[in-house]
Amino acid sequence: MSNKIGFAVLGLGHIGQKHCMHISNNPNAALIAIADINSDLKYENFINHVTIDNLLSNKHIDVVNICTPNGLHAQQAIQCLNANKHVVIEKPMALSTNDSKEIEIASIKNNKFVFCVMQNRFSPPSQWLKNLILSKTIGKIFSIQINCFWNRDDRYYTPNHWHGNMILDGGPLFTQFSHFIDLLYWIFGEININYAQFENFNHSHSTEFEDSGIVTFSINSGGVGSINYSTSVFDTNFESSISIIGENGTVKLGGQYMNEISYCNIKNYQMPTLEKSNPPNNYGNYQGSASNHPFVIQNVIETLNNTSSPHTKVTDGMAVVKIIEDIYKFRK
Ligand SMILES: NC(=O)c1ccc[n+]([C@@H]2O[C@H](COP(=O)([O-])OP(=O)(O)OC[C@H]3O[C@@H](n4cnc5c(N)ncnc54)[C@H](O)[C@@H]3O)[C@@H](O)[C@H]2O)c1
Repeated sequence: MSNKIGFAVLGLGHIGQKHCMHISNNPNAALIAIADINSDLKYENFINHVTIDNLLSNKHIDVVNICTPNGLHAQQAIQCLNANKHVVIEKPMALSTNDSKEIEIASIKNNKFVFCVMQNRFSPPSQWLKNLILSKTIGKIFSIQINCFWNRDDRYYTPNHWHGNMILDGGPLFTQFSHFIDLLYWIFGEININYAQFENFNHSHSTEFEDSGIVTFSINSGGVGSINYSTSVFDTNFESSISIIGENGTVKLGGQYMNEISYCNIKNYQMPTLEKSNPPNNYGNYQGSASNHPFVIQNVIETLNNTSSPHTKVTDGMAVVKIIEDIYKFRK
């Protein structure tokens, strides 16, 4: 075990369970401990359930994967970094730019890495799209439309849960759609928010924030765009898509989580064959984003073995939080 990277998971809910599984499945990783305020939760036959203080003082733990509610990420990440642990932070990294900056400061002060989880970056269609834009194959970008229409109803927003709570959840752009904001940032860089409008159509009884929004923005190269999102869709997720109109062509990624190329018409362009996308994370009544977490764990291991660098850096996590914060400045 000595050459393995030692991991601990903080928060053993839906995604914490997946982190445990992917750590356990990686031959170069060892799952050392798990901490959750609910000590009844178990990961298979794993027995080393500890308190957060035990976890921080355990010298065999190199990395703590923070899988707790959004509003706890910053404070817990800083606590781990100050205890000389690297951290993997589930999305979103934090709920404010100030908190993100505090994480960055603690990372620099303690010389420890922060890995933000934005696993959609590993999906073949996302990587194809990024290369297409960076290589300027579709030329000058005129407009970008992001549509995220999912279902999150009373099966998801249950009483006294952190989902729906302003302090712990923050809203659908943080909890449901930050992956797609990250994709926008990852491909087009910083974006400038021009306007945002929000509605709460059918979640007034279950959430402290909007369930739907319309956002307009511009990118530095001159194109304009919009984000349309909702968690009010009846019964099941409908789609998450991005359409891009450029001077030499038009493309659209679609499917439930931008996992399919739905349209591609580009001047003098031969579409390559892409690898198959991983299926979405399945949580019973609802589905989340692509199940690409094994790539995240592998990236941590390679970075700590000096053969790679963080795929989604602290500055990337901060940039996404800033874009969402800029959008939410339009909340009344
Ligand atoms: N990357 C992805 O695709 C993805 C998917 C789902 C969730 N997430 C993110 O992961 C995080 C957790 O989401 P989830 O769906 O697993 O939530 P969850 O409610 O299923 O699990 C959260 C867990 O944290 C525990 N917890 C709460 N307070 C704690 C504390 N102070 N110390 C230790 N444990 C504590 C809870 O007991 C619970 O077990 C959220 O930030 C969410 O946005 C990311």
